[in-house]
Amino acid sequence: MKKYKIALIKGDGIGPEIIDEAVKVLDAVASCSDFSFSYEEALMGGCAYDITGNPLPQETINIALSSDAVLFGAIGGEKWDALPREMRPESGLLRFRKELGVYANLRPAVVYDELINASSLKASVVKGVDLMVVRELIGGIYFGEPKGRTADKGWNTMVYTRDEIVRIAHQAFKIAMQRSKRVCSVDKANVLDVSQLWRDTVIEVAKEYPEVELSHMYVDNAAMQLIRDPRQFDVMLTGNIFGDILSDEASMLSGSIGLLPSASVGAKIGVYEPIHGSAPDIAGQGIANPIATIASASMMLRYGLDEIASANKIDDAIKRALSEGYRTQDLAQFDAKEVCSTSEMGSIIANYIVR
Ligand code: IPM
Ligand code: MG
Repeated sequence: MKKYKIALIKGDGIGPEIIDEAVKVLDAVASCSDFSFSYEEALMGGCAYDITGNPLPQETINIALSSDAVLFGAIGGEKWDALPREMRPESGLLRFRKELGVYANLRPAVVYDELINASSLKASVVKGVDLMVVRELIGGIYFGEPKGRTADKGWNTMVYTRDEIVRIAHQAFKIAMQRSKRVCSVDKANVLDVSQLWRDTVIEVAKEYPEVELSHMYVDNAAMQLIRDPRQFDVMLTGNIFGDILSDEASMLSGSIGLLPSASVGAKIGVYEPIHGSAPDIAGQGIANPIATIASASMMLRYGLDEIASANKIDDAIKRALSEGYRTQDLAQFDAKEVCSTSEMGSIIANYIVR
């Protein structure tokens, strides 16, 4: 029997409660499959800082690197906002991505029919939206040198090498091949030199994927098109900061940030996490929506462990829970038949899988 070792990084705020539900669902999937899971917990974020004085202890990196995949909750909170930049939970997360070499961040935005009224856009605009932002994650302006600040000047540098663009472009085209075979590459090539290299390189890589239709869009236009007519997009290929911004925008098409998962993959081990944050204001109350984390566990099976059938089982169970009217509090006003707690939602989804 195959045994997968999963590193669990629960993190801060609602992180622990939502990870517990994803584990419940993973165990349900394993109970009717030919594999099993073992879990090892590791610290990151504010809780790691409180205990070890470091938001990303070396031990966490070691545990992650000796696992088959990392399931990640959420980190951060006001409590740690005043710390020096290097000690802040967010710095730990950025270093973690870099250490693991997860250069490709996959962020799907899907509008569930059952929740179409939860979107702030008209149902006629968002019905059927199913897109994927493929965001470069360990380069660009987030990491470029030189960077720094003095009392009256601050600077960062947007840098991409050809190789960095080539590898993220391949990811986007490969994913498009499993979807509707369309890639829209987002840049600012009318202004930025780095974007001109980006565009030329993407065009080159595209030659290896003749079946995929490639288009290009400036980032400002892309931000507008995403709310004007989001269905025009299948895969959106972006650099680090453009993808950071556009993926938040895309997430709102679905109505609740509590629904959407993400995967960060690269050479080694992948990291799977909900796109929402640690929501310290509702932590510990059992009202957080665990669906984004459960869907992240599904992405882990699909993109990290190649257990596609099991990933489909989870996705189907999520859809079924929603179509039968189960809602956590964030979505209570949208056709809820029953409002349930974080752990009730996890159990409902897990039970559909076992039955
Ligand atoms: C995200 C977040 C992070 C980012 C922050 C917390 C460092 O916004 O994952 O999108 O900017 O990448
Ligand atoms: Mg972000």
